[in-house]
Order: sequence, then C-alpha cells, then structure tokens
Amino acid sequence: MVRAHEAGWAHAEGALRGPAWLREPADPNALVEHLWSTNVAKDASGELTVAGVPVSRIAEEHGTPAYVLDEDDFRGRARAFRDGFAGWDVYYAGKAFLCTAVARWVAEEGLCLDVCSEGELAVALRAGVDPARIGFHGNNKSVRALRRALEVGVGRIIVDSFHEIERLTELTTGAGRRAPVMIRVTAGVEAHTHEYIATAHEDQKFGFSITSGDALEAARRVLAADGLELRGLHSHIGSQIFDSAGFEVAAKRVLALHARVASELGHTMLETDLGGGFGIAYTTQDDPSTPAVLAAEMRAIVEHECRGLGIAVPHLSIEPGRAIVGPSTFTLYEVGTVKEVALDGGASRTYVSVDGGMSDNIRTALYDADYSCTLASRSSEAAPELARVVGHHCEAGDIVVKDEFLPGDVAPGDLLAVPATGAYCRSMASNYNHALRPPVIAVRDGLTRVVVRRETLDDLLATDVGGSEE
Ligand SMILES: Cc1ncc(COP(=O)(O)O)c(C=O)c1O
Repeated sequence: MVRAHEAGWAHAEGALRGPAWLREPADPNALVEHLWSTNVAKDASGELTVAGVPVSRIAEEHGTPAYVLDEDDFRGRARAFRDGFAGWDVYYAGKAFLCTAVARWVAEEGLCLDVCSEGELAVALRAGVDPARIGFHGNNKSVRALRRALEVGVGRIIVDSFHEIERLTELTTGAGRRAPVMIRVTAGVEAHTHEYIATAHEDQKFGFSITSGDALEAARRVLAADGLELRGLHSHIGSQIFDSAGFEVAAKRVLALHARVASELGHTMLETDLGGGFGIAYTTQDDPSTPAVLAAEMRAIVEHECRGLGIAVPHLSIEPGRAIVGPSTFTLYEVGTVKEVALDGGASRTYVSVDGGMSDNIRTALYDADYSCTLASRSSEAAPELARVVGHHCEAGDIVVKDEFLPGDVAPGDLLAVPATGAYCRSMASNYNHALRPPVIAVRDGLTRVVVRRETLDDLLATDVGGSEE
C-alpha cells in the first residue's frame, strides 16, 4: 500500500495534492474551529464532543450515521439574526431543515417561519407555530395546499405565477376571506458563493420578471382581485452569498418596482422581503459575514435606495435557512472500509467508505459541494494523508467529502464527523438503495434527545403495499 511520506503528502512520490485551497494541516487531529458548531470540541483523549457528550456515546446509543444537532448553537444563530435584523421580520427557511422541535425553537426565539409545501406547513402547525407568522412559498402550490393555507390563516402567501393568482382568486371569491399576498419577483441577479451576476433576464422557474413587465402585471392582477391583499414584493437571489453586493442590485430593482406600483397602480405596499442565501463555512475556503454586519449593510442599502426613490422604507424581512441550521449540525459516520486505489502516473487515492453517503448528503453529488471532516473517535499519531470519503451506495459519484487530510491510519470502526451538514442534507435525504434515513439527535447541556428518529425497515416496507390483484 502506498502511504504518505513521513514528511507529508507533498513529498511522497505519486501522491495527490487535492484542490489548491486545501492545506495539509500540521496536526490532522486539530479542529478547524469555525467549521463547527459552538459547543463542539475535542476532549483530552482526542475524541469529538458536543455540549459535553462524546460522539462514541452518541454512536452507541443512537447508531450511525446520525445528524447531531447542537441545540444551543441553533438557537444562538437564530437570535443573532433576530437581534442583528431588529425591526425586520426574520423568517427561518424551513426547507433547509424542519422538524417539530426546530419549528418550536424558531418560534421560541422570536422568528417567523417560511414553508414551501403542504408537508412543511403540516410540521409547522403540529409544532404550534402561529399561522400568522408563517409564509408560504412555492412555484406550483396545489389547490389543496392553497386551500389549507387559507383555512389556517397563514400570514402571507408568496405568489409565483399567473395561474396561482387565478387559483387564489377562485378560492377567495365569495368565501368571505382575503389572502395576504406577496409577489415573488426575479430581479435579474444570480448569486452563488463569492460571485454574483446581474442580468436583465433570468432563465429560471421562480417568480415574475421585473424586466419583462410580468411583475408589474402580477401586481395589477392581484390588486384587481377582491379576495387578495397585496402586501409586498419578494426577492430571493441565490445561495451561499458572502457579501451584500448582489442584495444591493436586487434591492435597487425591487424597490424601484415598489415605487412604480405606488405611482402607476396607486397602491403603496407595506412590505419587502429580500430572501435568504447567506453563506456559511463548509471548508477553510469560506469566510462568512456575521448577521450584524449583513444587517448593517442591507439596512444602509435599503435606506439609500428609498431615499433616492422618495419613498418610505417598507417593513422588511429576510429568509435565512442555511445560515441558521447549517453550522449547527454535523453528521457522524462509522468507517467500514479503507481502500487504496492506483491512479495514472503512479499516484494513488485513499477511499474511506462510511455507512451513509449520498442518501444523507446529496449536496456533494448535486452541487459539487465541498465538505471537510475529522477523525472523531480518537486522536492519531499518524501523518496526514489525503483521502476521499465516500458512501455505501451503488453510484460512483456517491462522495461525501471529495478531499480531506485525515490521519493515515484511519481504519474500519473509526468514527468520522462531517461539519456543517444541518442544511439541505436531512431535508434532501433519500431512500436510495433503500437506505434508512438517519435520525436527528439534538444535544444540549450534556443530554441527547432524538428529535427525528431513524427510519426502520418497517417504515420502508409500509409504503410497498404490493399491489396484489383483486
Ligand atoms: C425563497 C427562498 N427563501 C429562502 C431560502 C433559503 O436560502 P438559504 O437556506 O440559503 O438561506 C431559499 C432557498 O432556496 C428560497 O428559495
């Protein structure tokens, strides 16, 4: 087996270097602290702990793979947005991750909740979230879901198409109820990680284009419908955004439309939502801003634009998901196999297979996302070696962590932990290969609590009703 040279991987013949941003750590046991939730640490023996609970105990009591959610960290991030954006409404975007416990924490910390399906709405209602503090999104909401949202009295429905405006009009006409509506607009801004692109048009399924005139027409139609109450405009420009430049362009275009609706249609809307998308650190490449800094920048942008347009600053809201739940959670896996694979030119790659994979974290395969990880159950004296962490699924692209330096003696039975998996991992998890979706274990003050239990084979088989002929 080819192992890393004693002096490090860069000195070994035929070794891989990994991406340019990835640096070989002096000590592969050390945590890169800003990637982990506040209460994660390594204890004297080198084992990973969260809120005082060693991961071996979590694995023993709850099995692996498991999502481990640091409750105080989640609540702290929710509060940081609430306080940073004081005076604005902060809607936690439930699509990032939602369960009844999380919905309750969100409400307890004074945030509102954004849902985008009948299922997410059901979770929010079961958790006892005040429907008036729920916003309902989606580009193709079913009539049934819209009816349900109206029945329970959600605080705002973000309309996304002319068909939806028609449906809502039908559902409210003669029903003695008015639907509070916001219009989802596309501002011609696309933001991804460190870059954003400002264009006139957007080729995507969400929202009404400002440039084409559809957004103004949507406002006209909503105003013409007796049962609809036009509250404002909504813009969401993308994900993993690290600065306010994209928000500035979007806010300029959205507020200009806001002013046009007032001057041309004679209606002053009360609200503007600037969406979510605030970035988090998955690896050492990422250096996210704080909610307080973002808030100060966004406030200044909105005030400046409103002054220029001569309009009052509307009531504002945002919808962070990832930035609240993402860093609060890590995934705990057990290593099953370690394999050295020979590559061209005498190089080799170490594949470390864990007991989860693309069924619990699809982001690497879907978005080419980068993650990092650490040996969680012990410390090691072995030199760092570049490894690729993969899952157990029947798919070559089933990669969890593309490149990471792990101690060279990682072996079956070791626990590995991958930080920043709170957002869009459990919520996008699948049963591929009939995998059982992992539990979510909340940890606080030395205690663990199952907030979402592990699926069982009975759960899987329950939906497979056989279709026997009559
Ligand atoms: C309309 C809307 N709001 C908020 C969010 C949350 O984004 P993030 O989790 O990146 O903050 C999304 C994510 O796709 C979204 O589509």
